[in-house]
Amino acid sequence: MGGVGFAVSGSRGDDPTQYPGKLTWYVVMTLMAAAMGGLIFGYDIGISGGVTSMAPFLEKFFPSVYHNQMDDTSTNQYCKFDSQILTLFTSSLYLAALVASFFASTMTKKFGRRKSMMFGGLIFLVGAIINAAAVHISMLIIGRVLLGIGVGFANQSVPLYLSEMSPYNYRGTFNVCFQLMITIGILVANLFNYFFAKIEGGWGWRLSLGLAGVPAIIIIISSFFLSDTPNSLVDRGREEEAKTLLKRIRGVENIDAEFNDILAAKNDARLVQNQWQNIFKSRCYRPQLVMSILIPFFQQLTGINVIMFYAPVLFKTIGFGSDASLMSAVITGVINVLATCVSIGFADRWGRRTLFLEGGVQMLIFQIAVAALIGAKFGVTGDVTELPKWFAIVVVICICFYVAGFAWSWGPLGWLYPSEIFSLEIRSAGQSVNVAVNMLFTFLVAQVFLALLCTMKFGLFIFFAFFVVLMTLFCYFFMPETKNIPIEEMTQIWREHWYWKRFMDQPVNGANEMTRIEQV
Ligand code: BGC
Repeated sequence: MGGVGFAVSGSRGDDPTQYPGKLTWYVVMTLMAAAMGGLIFGYDIGISGGVTSMAPFLEKFFPSVYHNQMDDTSTNQYCKFDSQILTLFTSSLYLAALVASFFASTMTKKFGRRKSMMFGGLIFLVGAIINAAAVHISMLIIGRVLLGIGVGFANQSVPLYLSEMSPYNYRGTFNVCFQLMITIGILVANLFNYFFAKIEGGWGWRLSLGLAGVPAIIIIISSFFLSDTPNSLVDRGREEEAKTLLKRIRGVENIDAEFNDILAAKNDARLVQNQWQNIFKSRCYRPQLVMSILIPFFQQLTGINVIMFYAPVLFKTIGFGSDASLMSAVITGVINVLATCVSIGFADRWGRRTLFLEGGVQMLIFQIAVAALIGAKFGVTGDVTELPKWFAIVVVICICFYVAGFAWSWGPLGWLYPSEIFSLEIRSAGQSVNVAVNMLFTFLVAQVFLALLCTMKFGLFIFFAFFVVLMTLFCYFFMPETKNIPIEEMTQIWREHWYWKRFMDQPVNGANEMTRIEQV
């Protein structure tokens, strides 16, 4: 279709002439290729739980854990065998990603989004090869740390790339494709584990771990052919290149309005010497900083990764056999993928707030339902021998509704919203804070879930529900709508907000820039 495309209309929803342009096939293909970056993260979320429950893997690398697990005869379903060492091995990836995201910030700003993506893919590939060939636990750990570095770089750069490259009124659609790739990664990993666990000779885990290299190769090849974003090119002084690129990706000659907005943002950025100092010290960045911390915190405190990491264990506990449990985990995985597509279709139409609020309410209802069902059957002792089939099916249905609520709201928007709200001068640092907080709480939830379940029992679901209430209220009062607002004009949402405007008392794109930067 070449330069033919759909007209991009409706700047800020009402001025169709501000950023003229079409949705070109070039930009669509570019964005699809970049979104593949989500695959490595998703594959990893899905693969580790299954691998660490494969007996030959445990026997080889964690013999004491394996024997303790075999000897565990407790009938209390709330207190499953819990090995901190094994969980630490799994979640070491998230710690490595946390640290790497700060290094990625400098690389993404200085060398562009594309280089960070490529570097992330390369490091991840090396990690996957080392893991697949592991003969000693040290190789497993080194491999895992490298995977984490790869994820840190990819998650820091890909959402930014997508948000900057997309036409502003399709930004939601394309950015959500990153989450779609995460969910596909999780699903594929679950399916692989299911089949590879059955391989005779017990070496299936090598395939599970090694195949992580495939999404890594996809990212390396894609980022090799991608161009960088116009925003990053301007930021790095390559203005003519940015103009040519803008014409190509928007499919029109008249790109002046968009180019001038990026240039103005860059002129702001020039006055900022140190993005880290600014994001933490300047009052005018306070709303953006608060969002970059609270959004990933709330996303993880929905408890979603309890399902992603422990679904088969949970389903076994409520009465399914081994195979049925894995199948139910696959069902929730399919729901996760399908429900994300709702967000692709509606994030730019209904807006972020509608999805955030609806998703929050839906998760809350079904979390409470799960807590009530489990509480009614398992009580506080957790000693149950016989559970009716209908019970297990109803719990799975409730969990599917909960997962769907997450998958069209806090899942994708937890990556979209932070990537679109930062001003150019602190965008890279802000995204690193987002990734670091996300990884920190992914790590903590994974690490303490089994211990919390043992102490809080079915109340654990109420614990997560409490955070869902908080985050929904936070969204209602403090999160302004961002749909249809060009990324370099986003500061207006804070200036017009009833609460955040008090932090924006200095002109942002105006003359008094030095005051803004020095203000503490
Ligand atoms: C979250 C992950 C989660 C996944 C589930 C992502 O947005 O960051 O922690 O496992 O969604 O689909």
